[in-house]
Amino acid sequence: MTLNKTYRAFVVDRDGEKLISGIQELDISALPDADVKVRVQWSSLNYKDGLAITGAAPIIRKTPMTAGIDFSGIVEESAIEDFVPGDEVVLTGWGVGETHPGGFAQLASVQGDWLEKLPDGLDPKNAMAIGTAGLTSMLCVMGLENNGLKPSSGPVIVTGAAGGVGSLAVAILSDLGYEVSALTGRKDYSEFLTNLGAKEIIGRNEFSEEVSKPLLSERWAGAVDVVGGKILAKIISQMKYGAPLAACGLAGGSELNTTVLPFILRGVKLIGIDSVMCPKPLRVSAWNRIAKQISKEKLSSITNIHSMSDLDGLGKDILRGAIRGRIVIDVNK
Ligand SMILES: NC(=O)c1ccc[n+]([C@@H]2O[C@H](COP(=O)([O-])OP(=O)(O)OC[C@H]3O[C@@H](n4cnc5c(N)ncnc54)[C@H](OP(=O)(O)O)[C@@H]3O)[C@@H](O)[C@H]2O)c1
Repeated sequence: MTLNKTYRAFVVDRDGEKLISGIQELDISALPDADVKVRVQWSSLNYKDGLAITGAAPIIRKTPMTAGIDFSGIVEESAIEDFVPGDEVVLTGWGVGETHPGGFAQLASVQGDWLEKLPDGLDPKNAMAIGTAGLTSMLCVMGLENNGLKPSSGPVIVTGAAGGVGSLAVAILSDLGYEVSALTGRKDYSEFLTNLGAKEIIGRNEFSEEVSKPLLSERWAGAVDVVGGKILAKIISQMKYGAPLAACGLAGGSELNTTVLPFILRGVKLIGIDSVMCPKPLRVSAWNRIAKQISKEKLSSITNIHSMSDLDGLGKDILRGAIRGRIVIDVNK
């Protein structure tokens, strides 16, 4: 099949100090020279995209840049054996949408080793309902399991529970049989979280004060934290003896004011999770597990579809914690 001469993309650019972003019709010569060209079908909105689109953090280092840190679609052209036209693929991270043109576009040209074939059980749309957020949730769960967490260990707390990473972590953990406590600043989403499998809903205000003591009563057998800051500090002080905590985000702040006491007196294990440069074998096993395990019903209940023209507003919304679940972007609309 011959490629069209142009494609639509959501581009972030600078006019002096001012950031400008919007949909542009680009010539295919704007695509980088890389192994595989993908006809993108779906992308998704992640917190990092919000930072990139609004310029709230210097995610995009080089302008103009097509934003979008993940995408799924169909291989159109391939210069390598691993992929042939027609393969359904997914890409998350690797600097795409940051230093390399990203997924908010009808076409992408990328290194073959950044791409993964979709595992059985996932189509391109579901793959983006999961996207970077879902991969990160599964990496958190796998990190906890590798550090001894079992459903019988006790309650697991998930912060930022109504957001993308959080809602998927609640769904995955509860489907695995864990007793999940969902911490949220939006108690009006209690029913949403209960339907995903949360046993207990905790208001964010219970966790928003500075920790008074480095060790509080032991409460959590495991934790997935997407917010950092004071909330993470408090959770660390409440972890059970030897319990693992996966830290993957900073939606509430990047600082962490704690002491070594939970680590040296209780053996608490703080595990850092990165999905962007995560090695391929770990990604592949995380995607395979997601494909086998994720409930399509739950996935659809957390997903909303938008077009690229909504991205400016959505970028602001995700930074103020106003997105529920996952936003999938239809790049052809
Ligand atoms: N390490 C990685 O590889 C990786 C990958 C993906 C994402 N992340 C990080 O994970 C975080 C979440 O990403 P996401 O895409 O899930 O974003 P999201 O959909 O916006 O979810 C973040 C959630 O955090 C809560 N929140 C927002 N502002 C807060 C504040 N000031 N204090 C406390 N809680 C707050 C809100 O949940 P409630 O309304 O329920 O409280 C919000 O929905 C981001 O920091 C992102 O950078 C990291």
